[in-house]
Amino acid sequence: MVKVLEDTGLSFDDVLLIPRKSSIASRREIDTRSRFTQRIMINIPIVSAAMDTVTESAMAITLAREGGIGVIHRFIPPERQAEEVAKVKRADNVIIEKPITIAPDRTIGEARELMRTLGISGLLVVDPENRLLGILTRRDVLFEADSTPVSRCMTPRERMIVAESNISLEEAKNIFKQYKVEKIPIVDRENRVRGLITCVDLLKREAYPNASRDSKGRLLVAAAIGVKEKEIDRAKLLVEAGADAIVIDVAHGHTSMCIETIKKLRRIYGDNVEIVAGNVATAEGVEDLASAGANAVKVGVGPGSVCTTRIVAGVGVPQLSAILECANAAEKMDVPIIADGGIRESGDIVKALAAGASSVMIGRLLAGTDESPGAVVVKNGRRYKIYRGMASIYAMLGREARSREDPTEALIDASEYSYYAEGVEAYIPYTGSASEMIKKLVAGLRSGMSYLGARTIPELKHNSIFIRVTQAGIRESMPHDVEVI
Ligand code: XMP
Repeated sequence: MVKVLEDTGLSFDDVLLIPRKSSIASRREIDTRSRFTQRIMINIPIVSAAMDTVTESAMAITLAREGGIGVIHRFIPPERQAEEVAKVKRADNVIIEKPITIAPDRTIGEARELMRTLGISGLLVVDPENRLLGILTRRDVLFEADSTPVSRCMTPRERMIVAESNISLEEAKNIFKQYKVEKIPIVDRENRVRGLITCVDLLKREAYPNASRDSKGRLLVAAAIGVKEKEIDRAKLLVEAGADAIVIDVAHGHTSMCIETIKKLRRIYGDNVEIVAGNVATAEGVEDLASAGANAVKVGVGPGSVCTTRIVAGVGVPQLSAILECANAAEKMDVPIIADGGIRESGDIVKALAAGASSVMIGRLLAGTDESPGAVVVKNGRRYKIYRGMASIYAMLGREARSREDPTEALIDASEYSYYAEGVEAYIPYTGSASEMIKKLVAGLRSGMSYLGARTIPELKHNSIFIRVTQAGIRESMPHDVEVI
């Protein structure tokens, strides 16, 4: 028997949030921290989409510095994807785990060359067992002859300030302040070099006080994989490169293949890696993925700006209803959900979080910025960037071409791909810096939270009541009866 649900599927435009009494005097009182996964907190609830026109290292670095997290897409070879992850982890790294070293019997000429080619301002001097003997900085070599041995110009170990590996960044800052040094080597009990903290990196870190970072002070980053057998190898490279979370990224996540992939990753990594899985649009989907071991579930079937799944396949759930239903299930299982797709304005972020999502995943709004992959194109005197669905014809064709071992194989038949496409390619206006875009979205979120008297994201969920609106209500919500300048 065919079942027809009584419920009406609601989307963001179908509702508004009812304002309520608020004692918030300034938007600065508002705390936008939220859970990305069960164990990863982010400072703003914004995640960038795992798409090849949205997130590689540039986007992930900018977003993490602002407090969110980027998901590096999987439509490049695994080694390249892992390198993108590594770039993010290196970006504002305060503790250098493998500092560059030199032996004491090398010459100043060699040391100078090493510093110049690597663009660094100092070298740790070590014996063959990697035990610290001294430090050589650019200043030490200024007026020395090339042939002088390093040991003659270095600051020796006994005059150096060093720290143990459990030093906190606050303690490091105090050492820099008190001793006026620029570098603090980290050594173990046997005096073996275990790392290096530089003052410059610490200052860089202070420039982004709201950044989302791991316990070592590095920027957070996630990376996507698919569900085919060899994707487990991809995950391995990504984890080795430092990915904080692996995102199983498939259009229909409520499948046995997705569940198996979660279980496999769990078996391999235990609790050492956070696993995000999706996409789903039902409570049952959330329950099945969370029971398999997902630490966060991505919600959204067909709401994205370049998605045609609902037209092609006739399948989907309007995004606000999907979030509301999934959030109920997620709350019971204590697993955060990520509302993925369909965010057009900051108001949609407020609605998604009010409905129970812990964060939102954004494609289009970030795809027009400098940090998204791809060049700016000019059309009729206006600047655009290209944004495309990952199931669009050319995105699929590109993948097929790359996966071929023999490039002389017969040409790929594009028409076949056109039958399966569930996404489109599009021009979107160029919008400048991603950082500005993110700041604007967060300002809107703070505004929404203040109207609801919510100082935190959990309070926003608690305080929210939606009212359904008619077409007349939607019209009233826009600027109307004026000529907008
Ligand atoms: P927005 O609305 O932010 O949505 O542009 C981004 C999300 O769209 C999804 N996505 C697709 N969905 N066909 C689809 O049905 C596609 O080709 C496609 N590509 C991306 C994805 O979930 C993304 O995060």
